[in-house]
Amino acid sequence: MRVAFFSTKPYDRRFFTAANEQHGFELKFFEPRLTPETMALAQGFDAVCVFVNDQLDADILEQLKEAGIKTIALRCAGFNNVDLKAAEEAGLQVVRVPAYSPYAVAEHTVGLMLTLNRRIHRAYNRVREANFALDGLLGFDFHGKTVGVIGTGRTGALTAKIMHGFGCDLLGSDMRENPDCLELGMKYMPVDDLLAKADVVTLHCPLTPETEHLINEERVQKMKPGVMLINTSRGRVVDTKAVIEGLKSGQIGSVGMDVYEEEADYFFEDLSNNVIADDVLARLLTFPNVLVTGHQAFFTREAMQAIADTTLNNLQEIEKTGKCDNAVSYSGLKK
Ligand code: NAI
Repeated sequence: MRVAFFSTKPYDRRFFTAANEQHGFELKFFEPRLTPETMALAQGFDAVCVFVNDQLDADILEQLKEAGIKTIALRCAGFNNVDLKAAEEAGLQVVRVPAYSPYAVAEHTVGLMLTLNRRIHRAYNRVREANFALDGLLGFDFHGKTVGVIGTGRTGALTAKIMHGFGCDLLGSDMRENPDCLELGMKYMPVDDLLAKADVVTLHCPLTPETEHLINEERVQKMKPGVMLINTSRGRVVDTKAVIEGLKSGQIGSVGMDVYEEEADYFFEDLSNNVIADDVLARLLTFPNVLVTGHQAFFTREAMQAIADTTLNNLQEIEKTGKCDNAVSYSGLKK
């Protein structure tokens, strides 16, 4: 099988080349994102392998089909960037990596919480300039605080487990109650009730039409004053402008985000010599109580190995049987 990889970095090449020793596929790594302009690179391949910010809308999918592509392999868990209906109509199979290391995401989520609370990002810079003053670094004990988890699947449940270890009370919001979370004493409730009670709100739901701007202006007002908001799911689950207003008024105490609504133009690139044209992102970066990381929650050795192994196993399964357990389809989701 010939596979064209888009949006690749040196680390993608390293992990996929090593994993491919067991498969012997022909892999070609392209740096650019998959766009109408770069589409031509996919000509002559059997599959394309894409990442979180490659937008596979109906037009691109139709063109991929015409170029001879049969399979879209997502090397990530989320599939919000693929028009699944159009993919199905074009007869393209879509496979993904549903779970690689939920530990990676949960641990990064908690890392954001701890850093923000104890201002470790600020302390690091201060002491490097021999400023050992503590003013402005006052935090709180997580012990006894209430953590609200929206989306209690793999990453949400693991985050809950870690926070349970800190002695936090757990609230959850999800249409499916997770037995592991119930065992930790999590109380399930509608989102609005959770927001009214939680000292820390952490988002772990996928981006769907229902979760787009789940945290909006109205919901910011429903949160506990001074709340810590963490988003390691998908940028558009949060209305960033509403969050900025919440930060300005003090309603939101701190924000940690690994994802951003308009991240596709910025994340994964070194733009330190450029001017940031996005005023919302630029404003976010000015707050001392906001910590942004560039979609790195998944980025551990274990996760990268698992992503490469699962992606290539998915393609192997398709090649051998025409089907794959990790396929995701429009009609499958409708069932
Ligand atoms: P998962 O599928 O195990 O869990 C998602 C949970 O969200 C499910 O329990 C589902 O029922 C729930 N959910 C769906 N709609 C909801 C709604 N409207 N309200 C409340 N809950 C809802 O997924 P997992 O592995 O925990 O990942 C969650 C999301 O995190 C992924 O969809 C992906 O977008 C994002 N992600 C981000 C990464 C990063 O590096 N920042 C890495 C991996 C995933």
